Amino acid sequence: MSVEIRTRRVSVTQVRSRKSQEKLVCLTAYTAPVARLLDAAADVLLVGDSLAMVVYGFDSTLSVTLDMMIAHGAAVVRATRHALIVVDLPFGAYQASPQDAFRAAARVMQETGCAAIKLEGGAEMADTVRFLVQRGIPVMGHVGLTPQAVNSLGGYRSRGHAAAEREQILRDAVAIADAGAFSLVVEGVAETLAREITANVPIPTIGIGGSPACDGQILVTDDMLGVFADFTPKFVKRYRNLAAEIEAAALEYAADVRDGRFPAPEHTYGPPKTKS
Ligand code: KIV
Repeated sequence: MSVEIRTRRVSVTQVRSRKSQEKLVCLTAYTAPVARLLDAAADVLLVGDSLAMVVYGFDSTLSVTLDMMIAHGAAVVRATRHALIVVDLPFGAYQASPQDAFRAAARVMQETGCAAIKLEGGAEMADTVRFLVQRGIPVMGHVGLTPQAVNSLGGYRSRGHAAAEREQILRDAVAIADAGAFSLVVEGVAETLAREITANVPIPTIGIGGSPACDGQILVTDDMLGVFADFTPKFVKRYRNLAAEIEAAALEYAADVRDGRFPAPEHTYGPPKTKS
């Protein structure tokens, strides 16, 4: 199968116009080589703060810094030509005030070349989203299970099963859409709630543990490739088991080195050519 090489970048306005249209294909990307491989297939590549856990081995997303997000964001932008690149604002960089959020978002956009940022939160973040959008910063929202709030939420359980929480998350989604976000990640909520949010906001919803009714889907790439195999949430579909492939390759290499099969003559430089 040949992959069509598409070179014009997807824009924020194109993503916004995909409400109830062709589904948006979104994945996370953290490094240049992987981003390059995902670029043609994806409409949106998110440099998610999940890189704290997936790349750096922290046990939550709280430890990632703005500098780390910028370094990875810049690598992903450099490696891609097609997908819209969105970079997460990390915990602590935007919650205190809209001004803090603006400074952090402006740095991310200037230093990475990405087209948009994502931030987590509901009605309490609506003023911040409005402040950013009015100043030229496209914002992707993120409601439901918001991993930066893991300590307040008491874990990573799915949300919106009880009526009060369900109504609050729906209000959050509407507030973020009203504030001007161009799209909205809906994570880890009851399927019927994700469906209701999708029906009630005018911007595309992007589900992760949401609903097939969402306007698009996102997965953490390392989860869907089976690289990050420590824990697989219910909402992940594993398309490959690369962890097993990597382990097998490492064992084969180790055996080759120990038994003297590697390097072979074709992997070594011959003696210098002598003049006749
Ligand atoms: O950080 C991340 O990867 C995310 C996605 C899971 C939506 O926020």
